[in-house]
Amino acid sequence: MRTEFAASLERAAAGEELTREDIINLLAAAQGAEEVALYRLADSVRARVAGDEVHLRGVIEFSNYCRRHCCYCGLRADNAKLQRYRLMPEDIVAAARRGAELGYGTIVLQSGEDPWYTGPMLAEIIREIKKLGVAVTLCVGERTRDEYAMWREAGADRYLLKHETANADLYARLHPGMSWQERLRCLQWLRELGYQVGSGNIIGLPGQTLADLADDLILLRQLDVEMAGLGPFIPHPATPLGGEPAGSLDLTYRVVATARLVIPYAHLPATTAVGTLSPTGRQLALQRGANVIMPNLTPTRYRADYQIYPNKICVNEGPEDCRHCLEGMVRALGRRLGRGPGHTLKPLPVQ
Ligand code: SAM
Ligand code: SF4
Ligand code: FES
Repeated sequence: MRTEFAASLERAAAGEELTREDIINLLAAAQGAEEVALYRLADSVRARVAGDEVHLRGVIEFSNYCRRHCCYCGLRADNAKLQRYRLMPEDIVAAARRGAELGYGTIVLQSGEDPWYTGPMLAEIIREIKKLGVAVTLCVGERTRDEYAMWREAGADRYLLKHETANADLYARLHPGMSWQERLRCLQWLRELGYQVGSGNIIGLPGQTLADLADDLILLRQLDVEMAGLGPFIPHPATPLGGEPAGSLDLTYRVVATARLVIPYAHLPATTAVGTLSPTGRQLALQRGANVIMPNLTPTRYRADYQIYPNKICVNEGPEDCRHCLEGMVRALGRRLGRGPGHTLKPLPVQ
């Protein structure tokens, strides 16, 4: 083991606040003994702060219309080849009811940025879903502060808005017409409004460095997030980045494990993207710091069209299939399914 890696790992094990250099050292863990030691520490911190419960958050991808042009995403407005769909409000609520019946404590409403769903419309959908006794997470992109407030008032518990990359130049290049400052302003509003806030970044974007990834984790620590989605870049042929290589799975595992050390109390999903790059991807992520899975609840006939990247898993399955598949996966790892909403892991403030 290189001395700088060992020193940073030791500081992490002692619970010290990691510097940018420490984080870079951990992200650079070499294959073999260094990676093994990093994963072992991350798994023990996960066990201590999150226990053995794996929370399932059922995701309803209710619209693939999007007004944005993110250079990596197959839903971008410019992708004319995509068959677009919108679920009607009653179908969204029906899908959520199916999720509640399957035992999911959280329903995630995700879509492209689609203003067809007005603030009041989404508020009404949230109110209906809250009657099912589940937590509601929204993941619908950048909207006005008033809309975020209206949805919080309607009962939404959490909001997931990934910062995508902490490198402002890279952000500007990948998001024509969007601004990094605006993204952070939305995250600030969500915090002020009392949401449990999720953010996160893509790993392996063209031109991204280990220092950029360290800055991502430092930003997540500054934002004091309750959840962080950390997934590999997967190229989509109908996008400007279609010819670029996918993000590395090994690097993704190192980022997830290091995140568990930098933001120990955040929920960290084993993402669908790692499951797409490898059949054992989600299992390995769960053994390297992750504690959440986000099964698909979208009605099967729409799944293939929510193509943010190609070869996404579970497009031919139904909600019940994913539920059973994941129960088996979690059991095989010696873990158990989470009960209840699986709210924040952060310790309660001392009175
Ligand atoms: N439109 C909303 C937004 O962007 O916040 C929510 C839905 S968007 C499809 C959810 C996430 O998909 C984004 O935050 C982005 O990180 C991820 N994503 C999109 N295209 C991707 C790709 N090609 N590879 C990996 N992740 C991707
Ligand atoms: Fe739209 Fe979100 Fe995809 Fe960007 S990442 S194009 S906002 S769906
Ligand atoms: Fe969908 Fe395994 S999670 S089939």
